[in-house]
Amino acid sequence: MYHIAPSVFCANSLNVLPEIEILEQLGVDWYHFDIMDGVFVRNFALGIEFAKELKKKVSYPLYFHMMTINPENHIGLLQEIGADYMCFHIETVTNPFKIASDIRKNGMKPCIAINPITPIETLTPILNEIDVVTIMSMEPGFLGQSFMTSAYERISKLREIIDSKNLKTMIEIDGAVNPEIGAKCLAAGADILVAGFAFLFDRSSTIEEEYRLFNSLIK
Ligand code: DX5
Ligand code: ZN
Repeated sequence: MYHIAPSVFCANSLNVLPEIEILEQLGVDWYHFDIMDGVFVRNFALGIEFAKELKKKVSYPLYFHMMTINPENHIGLLQEIGADYMCFHIETVTNPFKIASDIRKNGMKPCIAINPITPIETLTPILNEIDVVTIMSMEPGFLGQSFMTSAYERISKLREIIDSKNLKTMIEIDGAVNPEIGAKCLAAGADILVAGFAFLFDRSSTIEEEYRLFNSLIK
């Protein structure tokens, strides 16, 4: 059982709704929603008002990938718009246990993202408190980068730790994942693939074609 999570940031911003309708028809059951504050990363992305409107149109969970400093300040805001998952970066906090617990108290599922430079074992003590780990396979903030192949080993290592503790924590992989890479990430132990410009929103083909290509690779 795995999920393909289209990255809303990579959808055509002037044509979001028709693209969302195609995704819903294909049976994509997860949405990755990037928020960037221009401080933790040198870019800005998707706002709360947009998220609120989108939430009314989609049938599946919205997963908020917060590339922001002080994520604890945004818990109330996300709770108000009915966010399902709130993912903060381990690099942005000194008190991850408290933040994870506050997210859960506010009715959302706490998740943590980790940059390529941060050792994966850093998360071992907190794995039983969180629902998903987002392993970055590129530096967060900008699109059009290459997939860092070190991510395969990081997925396997984390999978081993999670399984050895009999936990249900899921692994998401985010950054330049294409259908071929995605299939390898699943084999390495990932559960959720973020699909951006290299995958469902690859402008050289259609969402449907990319989805079909992926399915043919993993069957
Ligand atoms: C970038 C974001 C990603 C991005 C993925 O910092 O975290 O979610 O949308 O897009 P691709 O797969 O095109 O790199
Ligand atoms: Zn993301």
